[in-house]
This record gives sequence, structure tokens and C-alpha cells, in this order.
Amino acid sequence: PDQMELPSRPELFDFRGVSMTHFFTDNWENVQNFKARPDDVLIATYPKAGTTWVSYILDLLYFGQTSPERQTSVPIYERVPFLELIVERLPTSPRLIKTHFPVQFVPKSFWEQNCKIIYVARNAKDNMVSYFHFDSMAMIEPDPGDWNNYFQRFMQGKVVTGSWYDHVNGWWKKKQTSPNVHYMFYEDLVEDTGREIDKLCSFLGLSPSEDERKRITGGVQFDKMKKNNMTNYSTHARMDFKTGSFMRKGRVGDWKNHFTVAQNEEFDEDYKKKMKDPTLQLRTDL
Ligand code: A3P
Repeated sequence: PDQMELPSRPELFDFRGVSMTHFFTDNWENVQNFKARPDDVLIATYPKAGTTWVSYILDLLYFGQTSPERQTSVPIYERVPFLELIVERLPTSPRLIKTHFPVQFVPKSFWEQNCKIIYVARNAKDNMVSYFHFDSMAMIEPDPGDWNNYFQRFMQGKVVTGSWYDHVNGWWKKKQTSPNVHYMFYEDLVEDTGREIDKLCSFLGLSPSEDERKRITGGVQFDKMKKNNMTNYSTHARMDFKTGSFMRKGRVGDWKNHFTVAQNEEFDEDYKKKMKDPTLQLRTDL
């Protein structure tokens, strides 16, 4: 009987060259016609690269002072909604919106309105491990299979949002010609959160007080976010984390606990073929 209550997992299919589930394509027309406002801020990531972390940082920067009740009563996934699921009820300006779209799927209005866009990239190995754990727990995702199977599928881009390699490269290329794209790295955020918040602020034209900056830097640390019910997804109806948690480890290098030596060699070999641009370097270690 327990099993019957579980929703069935969605299927993965090819959508314009990118693996997707219906959740992210049902609204395609609406989403493509989305009317951005110049002060919208878009957070773009490959899934599990630190979306929630950066969403929370931005939310505190914009609303931490002005709407304290937002911090205690509105979960982060409502404060910063998904573009793909859009969305009649959008929050007040400036609207913070997140997306997992590869760069070519971003509605043109965001470019026309010169919106600020923040891209977060995470090294492929940790990104894969985090995604595997997430997909194992989250019934809204296709069945990940076992680790070895998932490892192959990730390299082939047969996971939701398609190829990690295409995603990070596509956005990196876009950033070279678009001053409105700020490209940041999960590993840098782990290494020095305050420094990365400073960079974000100068990109966004924000100048929090020293106290405020300190408060935010402290408040967004992993342990704080893990305990905070408004940031740890414990209130999300579509996810049931009986076997794990959304705020899982929050580290750089956890891949070493999952990759076998043989997998690591196979991965590195394949990585070299797909990541030809020497200017895009991701750290798998700190
Ligand atoms: P792990 O599964 O490796 O722990 P997303 O928000 O894009 O789904 O990404 C989730 C990943 O970001 C998870 O990685 C989660 O633990 C990590 N994360 C979230 N908040 C974090 C924080 N404050 N510090 C470090 N990692 C964080």
C-alpha cells in the first residue's frame, strides 16, 4: 500500500536537443513569451550547482532589511520561483527568478530588457554526485537507476536539462559577449563566501552596510541553511526526503567518495574531449 501512494516518476525525452521532463516543457509557449522587466534578476544554473544558495543570498541582499516576514514565512522556492513553471503569482520587484535552462532557451525578453543574469557553475564531478542523490530522493525526477548507470547517463547528457558540458560551455560563451551575465563558481562560494558576495554586489550595483554584509555571509552558511525550514526544502509538497535531505553535504570533493578509480579515469578522458575551451576551468578540489 505504501508504494501505491508514490507518484510515478516522469519520463525523460528529447526536447529541441535537450533532455527534459514535461514539468519543464509544459509551459513552453508562455515561458518563451515571458515579459521581463529591466529590474528582473535571473539566476541560471545546471541543476544542483548551488541555485538555492545563490537564490537565498540574493533574496537577503534585496529583501533582508525591508521584509523580515518574508524571511520567516515564505520558503525560498516561492520567493525565487522557477521560470520554467511560470507563474502567475510573481513576487514584487525586483523579481528574482531562477531557471535551469541552457542559454539558448532563455526567453528573448530577458536579453531585450538587459536584465542582470547570474550563472552559477559547479564542477561536473560534484554536480553529478549531488544530482544523483537528488534524483534518487525526488520523485519528480526520472528514475536515476544505480550509480554506475547514472554515471554513464550524466556523461551522455541523458538527465533533466541535458548535457552539463553544453550547459556550462554555452553560458560561458554567452558571458564573453554579454556584460549582463555574471558567471560564478560554486567552489569559489565555498572557498570565500564574503568575497563572492562582494563581487555579486558590485555586479548588481548594491552596497549593503558592513553589518548587513556580515549578517548575510553568516546566515547563508551551509549549517544555517540546513536548519532553516525556509531554505532547506522541508516544506516542499512535491518532494519527500525520507531517505536524505536537500541540504546534503555542501562540500567540494565529495565525488571522491563515489567515483571508483576506473570511473574517474573514464570521466577525465571524456571530459577532455568535451571541454575544449581552456579559459573555462572548474575546480574539483580546494
Ligand atoms: P550537495 O548535494 O553536494 O550537498 P541546488 O540548489 O542547485 O539544487 O544545489 C543543491 C546543492 O547545493 C546541494 O549540494 C546543497 O547541499 C548545496 N548547497 C546549498 N546551500 C549551500 C550552502 N549554503 N553551502 C554549501 N552548499 C550548499
